[in-house]
Formats: sequence, C-alpha cells, structure tokens
Amino acid sequence: MKVYLAEDYQEMSRFAANLIASRVALRPECVLGLATGSTPVGTYELLVEQHKSGKLDFSKVKTVNLDEYVGLPADHDQSYRYFMQTNLFDHINIDPANTHVPNGMAEDPAVECARYDQVIDELGGIDLQILGIGHNGHIGFNEPSDTVPMGTHLVDLTQRTIQANARFFASEAEVPKQAITMGIGTIMSARQIVVMASGADKADIIKAAFAGPVMPQVPASLLRLRSDLILVGDRAALSKL
Ligand code: PGA
Repeated sequence: MKVYLAEDYQEMSRFAANLIASRVALRPECVLGLATGSTPVGTYELLVEQHKSGKLDFSKVKTVNLDEYVGLPADHDQSYRYFMQTNLFDHINIDPANTHVPNGMAEDPAVECARYDQVIDELGGIDLQILGIGHNGHIGFNEPSDTVPMGTHLVDLTQRTIQANARFFASEAEVPKQAITMGIGTIMSARQIVVMASGADKADIIKAAFAGPVMPQVPASLLRLRSDLILVGDRAALSKL
C-alpha cells in the first residue's frame, strides 16, 4: 500500500484529480469507477476545471458508479445519479450513454444487479476505482458483514449509515433503507484502486482499516489484500495511522 499524506482537503483532491487525469490522458477510452459523497466533490470540481481549460477530454471515457439508493429516481436530488450529473457529468464532454449508475428504481433489484455486473464485464472491468470510506469502514455500500460479497447486490443500510446520510435529507425517516452496490469482488478487480479520506472524523476508521486486522467486519481493510493500493488522506484523517 502506498500512503500519500495531503496537507488538506484541497491537496487530497488535487492528488486524486491528477491521477484520474493522467489515466484519461494515457488511455482516452478508460473505465473509471466513481464514488459519491462529500469526499470526491473537490476532485470532481478540479476535473471540471481541467476540462473547461481544454486539458481534459472525456469524449471516450466510460464510468461506472459504485452504488445507488433503492427507491430514488434519477432526478431526485439525493440520488447518486443526480449527484454525478450535477457534480461532474453535466459539466464535461462525457457521452451520457457511457455513464453507468445502478438503477435504484428497477422493478426487480436482483435483475438490476445482474445487469450491472454484465455492464462492468462488457466494459472489460474498471481501470481506476475511486473510493471514499464510511465511518463504519464501508466501501460503496458494502457494510460491515461476516461475508465478502463478490458482485453487485442489494444491501440493507446500517443504522449508522442511515444516520450519517440523514444530513442530506429532510429527516432521517426519508433516508432510503436499501441500496444497490457494486460488490467487494468487483472493486478488488479494478486495475488501480485509490481510497480517499478527509477530516478528523475519519481518523479512527482509517486506523482500524489500514492498521488493524483485515476482516469483512471492516470492509475497507480487505483492500489491503491489494499491495498496490493507494491511500490518500489529509493530515486529520491520517493522524492516527
Ligand atoms: P463521505 O462518504 O465521502 O460523505 O464521507 C464516504 C462513504 O460513506 O463512503
């Protein structure tokens, strides 16, 4: 594992944006695995800036997102499709047909999960996967568990995750209770994986995941099975590592 200590959120974001930009420059048709949440917002802002200054062309890039809430339509302002549109896709020259997010409104989530795995397969897998980390160690919506889910699957969100995400909804009751998420197996098969973390509230879980035992009860710890893992965090998030 390589650890990059960033001074602050901005420097962490610049590091991740530069990794993504160089991947796109090297392979214009690359497949990016993207994440939502507060952590990558600054990274997406920098990518938009680079695109607008003519330095970054997304016309052939393909993206697959980690997860989506069950029951939220694409135009709901808390859906992850909406997040991706407003934070990135609407501001760059990506072909909408090349952007993939699980469909949280699918009639049969099992069928949707199988379809999503097929999409990733047909794209030839993920070149670069960007990840945030939840306070409970989740990656995507792979919550702490006794097992390691391989492919895309339906999950019941933990109370901790529901509480953490309630800040974006009118009330905790409105937070969806389920999500569709890419599995840990798929994430681990990405050709490069980058975990990002910012803020003192992430320090304990960063220590548990990257210095504690490797176990599915702390899903992010499983990433250490990849010796080429990259962790980039700001000083506060890495303070206990
Ligand atoms: P955050 O979420 O970036 O909003 O902290 C990370 C996560 O839950 O994966």
